[in-house]
Amino acid sequence: MKKILVTGGAGFLGSYICEELLKKGHRVTAIDMADGKKIEHLVSDKKFTFIQDSVCDLSLMKHQMKDMDMIFHLAAIADPLKYVTNPLNVMEVDLLAAINIFKIAAENKMKIVFSSTSEVFGRNKDVPWSEDDDRVLGATSINRWCYSTSKAACEHYLFALHKEERVPFIIYRFFNVYGPKLDDLGHGRVVSIFLKQFLNGEDITVHGDGKQTRTFIYVDDAIDAVIKLAFYKKAENQVFNIGTPREYSMYEFAKIMKKVGGFKSKFKFIEHKKVFGKGYEDIPRRVPDTTKVKKCINWRPKISIEEGLKRTIEYYRNRK
Ligand SMILES: NC(=O)c1ccc[n+]([C@@H]2O[C@H](COP(=O)([O-])OP(=O)(O)OC[C@H]3O[C@@H](n4cnc5c(N)ncnc54)[C@H](O)[C@@H]3O)[C@@H](O)[C@H]2O)c1
Repeated sequence: MKKILVTGGAGFLGSYICEELLKKGHRVTAIDMADGKKIEHLVSDKKFTFIQDSVCDLSLMKHQMKDMDMIFHLAAIADPLKYVTNPLNVMEVDLLAAINIFKIAAENKMKIVFSSTSEVFGRNKDVPWSEDDDRVLGATSINRWCYSTSKAACEHYLFALHKEERVPFIIYRFFNVYGPKLDDLGHGRVVSIFLKQFLNGEDITVHGDGKQTRTFIYVDDAIDAVIKLAFYKKAENQVFNIGTPREYSMYEFAKIMKKVGGFKSKFKFIEHKKVFGKGYEDIPRRVPDTTKVKKCINWRPKISIEEGLKRTIEYYRNRK
């Protein structure tokens, strides 16, 4: 049994991670600014503690991390709209708070499990991306890159911390994980934005020409990899892409959602700059090479896009 701190533990991925860690018999403390609705089924568990507060509070973090064995650091601003509307907050949380947390973890000799992102590859055109492929980004005057840069700087910090102070870590780069509890309908990421429009019978706003591609991984498959890797000694001090290599154009993806949910909405195409303002630049293709994770833990995603979307749509329909 380990004592584990999960920052962002009341968020989408964090809530599933807390649940899995508790199932495995660990003692779990979650810190998150969110209201805790996604983890309300866990609060009666004696091994679980939820603290609704900010990871930017250094004295709180020092106090909470004192006796912990391990930290899953997920707390972050991960909403693409916020990269352009509130870049300062993105960097305060995703960069500054994270580095402070890594320092405290190092002092306490804790293993650090860090959630990074496919965004670190930027607009590298050469897909699929394996973990050591290049990062290709735009100018620092373009706010859109602040999330990618913050996460990449955290990755650098972890490699440095390991090299110079032998602090053990593991980094996950997630490629569009989706499923029940993702975001509030209409907010955050594409699945919850499309779903709100479908459920309300509104037109579906496909950004750009809809030809830009993404890959998607159902949350159960992603969490399976996360938990296996986090406790596997041979996976330590490395980065792993967590995703699937099957590409869908956004238009194709929207059409699959329509079919799976039996929805009636029509599609309309809307320019990126109308949604994100001038400073935004979309990534045309974003595809992971997942050979490394597959080989390391003999892992394969099991849930098809149709099955994953069916489960997700059912969850939001019932909640509505
Ligand atoms: N879901 C994905 O596909 C995906 C893709 C790439 C990266 N990630 C990364 O995985 C992690 C988890 O993402 P998620 O999908 O669960 O998103 P999420 O938004 O549901 O979770 C992030 C959580 O962090 C919390 N948070 C934000 N600022 C905080 C602060 N100052 N103090 C405490 N808590 C704070 C939020 O309240 C939220 O609950 C993030 O670090 C994100 O960057 C996720």
